[in-house]
Amino acid sequence: MEHQETAAPLVPSRLSLPTLRAAAAVCTACDLYKTGTQTVFGEGLETARAIFVGEQPGDSEDRAGRPFVGPAGKLLDRALEEAGIDRKLVYVTNVVKHFKWTPRGKRRLHEKPNAREIAACRPWLEAELRLLKPDVLVCLGATAAQALLGKSFRVTKMRGQILKAEIADAIMATVHPSSILRAPDDEARHREMELFIRDLKVIAPLLRH
Ligand code: URA
Repeated sequence: MEHQETAAPLVPSRLSLPTLRAAAAVCTACDLYKTGTQTVFGEGLETARAIFVGEQPGDSEDRAGRPFVGPAGKLLDRALEEAGIDRKLVYVTNVVKHFKWTPRGKRRLHEKPNAREIAACRPWLEAELRLLKPDVLVCLGATAAQALLGKSFRVTKMRGQILKAEIADAIMATVHPSSILRAPDDEARHREMELFIRDLKVIAPLLRH
């Protein structure tokens, strides 16, 4: 297939999750398709009221072909439950839909996607947002927050605040669950988890009506 500037020409005109997923499966809009095992598209019900956006699939997600199924996803599930958010109301996806990694011995180390890769993949996220029309959009970590709220957005300063944006009635950014897993000790991990749950509790009432 001809090399694409962005995925825009590949997005089907008749939007549905199956048509989007099938089209994204053969995406070559950036070079990450060469090293990722497969496209990891978003997952959840088309009737989901909240979209959670991460950075990119990790090692487990790349193998499974499903977002947030590895350690970060398990932590997210636990936090959602603690915050009283029904998992069925949540659709999870990523800004970039292929795993970017560098080899380190036998391991595949996560590498941050660059601006070109984020821009190339963006039409898929925009299509997911157009299709689901979520009431609530949650950015998990700086990559998602800066892609959706602007380069100058600082999660550390603005986490847990509900903002208004064209793309969703309510948009909130918080930390990425992986950052909690990277906390230096149990005490810090516990504290970070409590703060993460506190952020999620801010959006819980918006999903109850
Ligand atoms: N981290 C992400 O940002 N997304 C996933 O799907 C898994 C880990």
